[in-house]
Amino acid sequence: MKGLILSGGKGTRLRPLTYTRAKQLLPLANKPVLFYAIESLLEAGIRDIGIIVGDTFAEIEATVREAQSSWPEDTKITFIQQDAPLGLAHAVKTAQPFLGDDRFVMFLGDNLIGESLAERVREFDAPGCPYRCHILLAEVEDPSQFGIAELEPMPAHNPAPVDAPALVRVRRLIEKPKRPPSNLALVGVYFFDPTIFTAADAIRPSTRGELEITDAIQWLIDAGHDVRAQRLSGYWIDTGKMEDILDANRQVLLNMTESIAPTARISEDSSLTGIVVIEDGAVIENSVIRGPAIIGARTTLRNAYVGPFTSIYHDVVIETCEIEFSIVLEHSVVSNVRGRIEESLIGRHAEVHTSALKPRAHKLMLGDHSRVGILPS
Ligand code: DAU
Repeated sequence: MKGLILSGGKGTRLRPLTYTRAKQLLPLANKPVLFYAIESLLEAGIRDIGIIVGDTFAEIEATVREAQSSWPEDTKITFIQQDAPLGLAHAVKTAQPFLGDDRFVMFLGDNLIGESLAERVREFDAPGCPYRCHILLAEVEDPSQFGIAELEPMPAHNPAPVDAPALVRVRRLIEKPKRPPSNLALVGVYFFDPTIFTAADAIRPSTRGELEITDAIQWLIDAGHDVRAQRLSGYWIDTGKMEDILDANRQVLLNMTESIAPTARISEDSSLTGIVVIEDGAVIENSVIRGPAIIGARTTLRNAYVGPFTSIYHDVVIETCEIEFSIVLEHSVVSNVRGRIEESLIGRHAEVHTSALKPRAHKLMLGDHSRVGILPS
């Protein structure tokens, strides 16, 4: 069984943060989103992983290669260039030479899931598994933003609901429907056998000009192949949407284990409570950190409060200010800000400092290299 991670595409919904960086490299708890997909496949026992890349090939390859030694030694990662982001089914076609005749798990590089795939991989890879395709579903509030599934009614002798471990049959799938038949969205993790290549060759581009994987799976259903679905029981977040990034960061922080790097310096007048991770060379002076929170390598906190669900990346300075439920990317400086910063995403090399602010709340969404002057009260 192989793994295929899709990390091409444009990331327009995450601008301005993705003007200068691949969306799959945005960090959650100081680790690129893409690494969670890689580690999810590794945890399920998959070692041969292809990564589809587009314009951001060089950046993604460099970041992954740098982390490679932290994964099992037999991990094999192959980068596959997709000429243009022409759809998820187009990405599958592009990866055909890599995938060959193997069954595979396709994982969207901007998706995050909160449960192990190991059992499902084992079942789908078992000799004689009758399903050509296995999809995962989750309830969503706005079905028009996702691929949506309509299920076959359960037979009377097996009245298990969709959230039971039983697999259910799929009747119909529609990509981003105007009139959704249900609120069950396709999660960005799919299990395929090589029949999907025939399906991807047979479909036509959608109205948005993409070869949709949803249409390819519908082709499998129409051709009489067995497509099964199962509800995900853990959390699922499509981090490709800005509003979901902070929530994804929160989920990951909740699952961290406390740790303090031996090279970090924490002054006696500082206090740390809850799950807190302090990375190499961070300096904490006269500050309060309430976890879950992570402070990146070589970052300095001085006279600062860092509250729950906050990730401060490496080489940042946070001085004389309060921040919580936020993400600050590398090489940024936040200093002398009155009032607490909350629900904020601060890009790379950004500077935030006191000026004046009305209304008295800080809600920031700053792109890389932004400068914001906040008015004094
Ligand atoms: O997140 C789940 C949803 O993902 C599903 O419910 C939808 O059915 C599915 O079509 C997909 O919708 P999105 O509109 O969110 O897909 P997006 O364009 O954001 O692409 C998902 C990932 O795949 C992202 O990491 C970029 C990558 N990608 C995308 C395209 C279009 C590629 O690698 N190549 C591509 O051609």
